[in-house]
Amino acid sequence: MILVTGAGGNLGSATLAALHARGVPATGGSRSPGPGMRRLDFDDPAGLDLTGVSTLVLVSAGYAEDDLVVARHAAALAAAVRDGVRHVVYTSLTTAGDHLGFALAHRATERLVRESGLSWTILRNGLYAELFGGLLTWSGDGLESAFGDGALAAVARADLAEVAALVAADPAAHRGRVHDLVGPPVTAGLVADRLGVPHRTVGLGEYRRRLLEETPGLLPFQPPMLASIATGVRHGFLDGADPALTDLLGRPARDPLAVAAAAASATRPATTRPATGLRPRP
Ligand SMILES: NC(=O)c1ccc[n+]([C@@H]2O[C@H](COP(=O)([O-])OP(=O)(O)OC[C@H]3O[C@@H](n4cnc5c(N)ncnc54)[C@H](OP(=O)(O)O)[C@@H]3O)[C@@H](O)[C@H]2O)c1
Repeated sequence: MILVTGAGGNLGSATLAALHARGVPATGGSRSPGPGMRRLDFDDPAGLDLTGVSTLVLVSAGYAEDDLVVARHAAALAAAVRDGVRHVVYTSLTTAGDHLGFALAHRATERLVRESGLSWTILRNGLYAELFGGLLTWSGDGLESAFGDGALAAVARADLAEVAALVAADPAAHRGRVHDLVGPPVTAGLVADRLGVPHRTVGLGEYRRRLLEETPGLLPFQPPMLASIATGVRHGFLDGADPALTDLLGRPARDPLAVAAAAASATRPATTRPATGLRPRP
């Protein structure tokens, strides 16, 4: 049986849905399991039960400091080895993201995966188009970001889920493989153009100040993490192409510009929306 962890999250639920859409039997694990799913909380290693699972899709459990994230993944892998899982598919971070603030936890987990003795596939996921669009902020009549003219090889989350599903459905074909999954380049300016508004670039210092002083709810590790994404994009370290995504999908990638524009549009304050009859360009 295939089990997808993090099935309550966006990538995990989409991966499970993609498996089901292919007619592949699979279940999910989550801290808040839905019907038919298993309760899986990597912060509760004693409670992890992966018996009967042959292929584990280990969706990274981020949003914490490195030590906690790596400990979560180590617990999941230890349970997988103990309970007889044969193949693990780990959703990691694109190679170009090596310098990002959260890369270390992914690379440390990749080491654990390789050393686990399990058969494995590593999916080095590019940054989500949804994330890129969501990081653009509305100000006055337009969008602001610290991305400058830099481009991101962004990927629609649904494409990453589809690749995870097709790999999990045929693990032998992807054994010992590292797939770098990035999409076509997108810039903040292109997103703004798509929405018919201007884009203004702010400096990295101002961006970090806003994160630290004006963004409630961020955890301590998040401002440096987000600033690392901004400088990486701005200085052209995250725009490289790789054919793996489209090769694996067997079709063009979903348009990351449309996905990023939808994400940016979703955070648009009502006061800046165009009046009736003035719709943004499609
Ligand atoms: N490539 C990118 O641009 C990007 C952007 C953001 C995050 N990420 C990484 O990719 C992962 C999936 O992205 P997403 O969009 O699906 O994020 P999401 O919707 O925020 O979901 C977070 C995921 O983390 C799991 N998780 C958190 N704590 C956990 C724990 N203690 N034990 C087990 N699972 C735990 C959650 O599982 P349950 O809620 O089901 O328990 C959920 O699947 C994230 O967790 C993060 O590591 C990548």
